[in-house]
This record gives sequence, structure tokens and C-alpha cells, in this order.
Amino acid sequence: MPSVLFVFTLTTKTLSAHLYYVLAPHATIDIASPNGANPPVDEGSVKMFENDPESLKFLANETIKGQAHQCQEAPRMFDLPVDPVNIKLANEFYRPGKIVSAVCHGVAALVGVTDTQGKSIFAGKNVTGFSNAEEEILSKTKDVPFSTEDRIISLGGKYTKADKPF
Ligand SMILES: *[C@@H]1O[C@H](CO)[C@@H](O)[C@H](O)[C@H]1NC(C)=O
Ligand SMILES: *[C@@H]1O[C@H](CO)[C@@H](O)[C@H](O)[C@H]1NC(C)=O
Repeated sequence: MPSVLFVFTLTTKTLSAHLYYVLAPHATIDIASPNGANPPVDEGSVKMFENDPESLKFLANETIKGQAHQCQEAPRMFDLPVDPVNIKLANEFYRPGKIVSAVCHGVAALVGVTDTQGKSIFAGKNVTGFSNAEEEILSKTKDVPFSTEDRIISLGGKYTKADKPF
């Protein structure tokens, strides 16, 4: 069975429930966050997904709670993009060809990750992630440290998004 490391932000912007349950039958999942134990959960996301069975199952799962409690100290859209441990970890995954992936704002955590030549891992690749239009809908444009969409494009990524937000 392959191993998967989830890196949790300390800011409250991720809820990785769906991905977790897709991978759980096929991989050993570990989780990490910048300050170790008990990374926070975004209350806004919890409310938005309060009728989503997968998310509820994820939040209630004692195994996952136990993992979060003992979360390894490793490397948030605020902390992770510049966190040296997060960048080092992702570099070390990416360079030998291991899969490094993210969704939504999580993509922002990878903007400092580079290949062995020091080139952004986004350069020349098809990429998506939280869009400027989506930040505007949530009135978050002024609250985020940078635009995920603009940054991907400035790093040479071929940014595309769905016709409709979210
Ligand atoms: C909790 O998560 C673990 C690990 O993915 C899984 O094996 C277990 O079946 C889950 N328990 C419940 C009650 O969903
Ligand atoms: C990137 O997207 C373009 C346009 O949609 C597509 O033609 C191309 O195959 C994609 N490249 C990869 C590596 O998926």
C-alpha cells in the first residue's frame, strides 16, 4: 500500500474529507501541520458542508481525530506558501517523481515548490485552483495574502477554470 501525507494548514481553509475517503482504502494516510497537533477546522466550511455526509463522517471519525491529535509537526494559504518545512517536504516529494497535489486554496501551498533546476512546478503545466471570481463571490479578495489564480499564471502555469464558479 502506498503512503500519503496530508499537510494541514493552521489557518482554517481546508476540509479534505472527500479526498480522504477516496484514498483511505488504497493508502496509508498521515497528516502534518506547521505546529503539530490539532490543526484547526474552518467553521465556515463546516457550516457550508453541514449536510454533506462525507464531511460529517470525516469530522466525527475517532481514528482521524486521533491522528489530528498526534499530528506531526511539519508545515497554511497564509502559512504554507512560505513555510520552509512545507516547501522542503514538497520539493523532496516532487523531485523524485512522487505525486504532489492540492485542490482549492491548497494549490497556494505549492507556489514555492520547484524542480531540481529551481523552476516552479507549475511552469508549463495545466493547473487549476481557487479563482479570482470565487474570491470575489466570497468577498475574500482583500483577506487573502495573494491571488492563487494570478500567482499560478505568474509562475508560468497554464491556469484554467470551470465556466461557472465552484
Ligand atoms: C474512520 O477512518 C478510518 C481510516 O480511514 C476508517 O478505517 C474507519 O472505517 C473510519 N470509521 C468510520 C466510523 O467511518
Ligand atoms: C493541457 O490542456 C490542454 C488544453 O486543454 C490539453 O490539450 C493538454 O493535453 C493538457 N496537457 C496535459 C499534460 O494534460
